[in-house]
Amino acid sequence: MGEIVLKAEGVAKTYRPGGSTVPVLRDLFLEIEAGHFTIVLGPSGSGKSTLLNLLGLMDAPDEGEIYFSGQPTRRLDEERRSRLRNERLGFVFQFDSLLPEFTVLENVLMPARIAQAQGRGPGRRESDARARQLLSRLGLAKLFERFPYQCSGGERQRAALCRALMNKPTVLLADEPTGNLDKTNGEMVFKDLQEMAREQGVAVVMVTHNDSARTFADRVFLMQDGTVSQDLQGTRQ
Ligand SMILES: Nc1ncnc2c1ncn2[C@@H]1O[C@H](COP(=O)(O)OP(=O)(O)OP(=O)(O)O)[C@@H](O)[C@H]1O
Ligand SMILES: [Mg+2]
Repeated sequence: MGEIVLKAEGVAKTYRPGGSTVPVLRDLFLEIEAGHFTIVLGPSGSGKSTLLNLLGLMDAPDEGEIYFSGQPTRRLDEERRSRLRNERLGFVFQFDSLLPEFTVLENVLMPARIAQAQGRGPGRRESDARARQLLSRLGLAKLFERFPYQCSGGERQRAALCRALMNKPTVLLADEPTGNLDKTNGEMVFKDLQEMAREQGVAVVMVTHNDSARTFADRVFLMQDGTVSQDLQGTRQ
């Protein structure tokens, strides 16, 4: 068993819009391992994005605790949460978020540039080499100097994956990253996520309603009635 880098323990979350209550998560336990590609499958509205927001320290649970590398996070102040987010987490979303006025290579380098500006992370030469290596690894070597509008949707999502990996995160969180892609491109992204988890030693967590992701995953969890349970059917475990 790999190192547990992220753990949800007894997590509950209820939204309270305008005086009403929308209970979404309750009594949720989840352990995420380094080097594994973990997926959480569930229908629309089941609470997948809510869970990812909690795991990504963008929101705090009402009850329970999220442990990041063994450290409880609920009582951390916003500054320390945001530092953890910036330095230890990578995100990929459904709609690609590459900045249109920068080239693919510049987009991938962006997290490294921000870290450099804050006086951390490796120097320019090393970052540049890593960005080129990641893009080449995912078959995007010809796209360094292209702008996002000159790339396909699948290429943009894979470049967004390189960007999320740029600063060597402990955990990479992906929310329906293939929602806009056709089957072939979607499966290419699943495969990349699986291989990057292993090669980079990063814990990859993806939430999706797309059942075809399960054949690529090391662990499959199903989201139902506000909680998750491990599903052993049809996985490589
Ligand atoms: N800020 C909010 N305020 C109130 N209710 C919310 C809020 N965000 C989400 N919800 C509700 O919480 C439930 C879970 O939403 P969530 O976005 O986590 O689902 P999801 O599984 O990601 O769905 P999808 O597959 O459509 O993205 C839904 O009923 C949604 O309407
Ligand atoms: Mg969602």
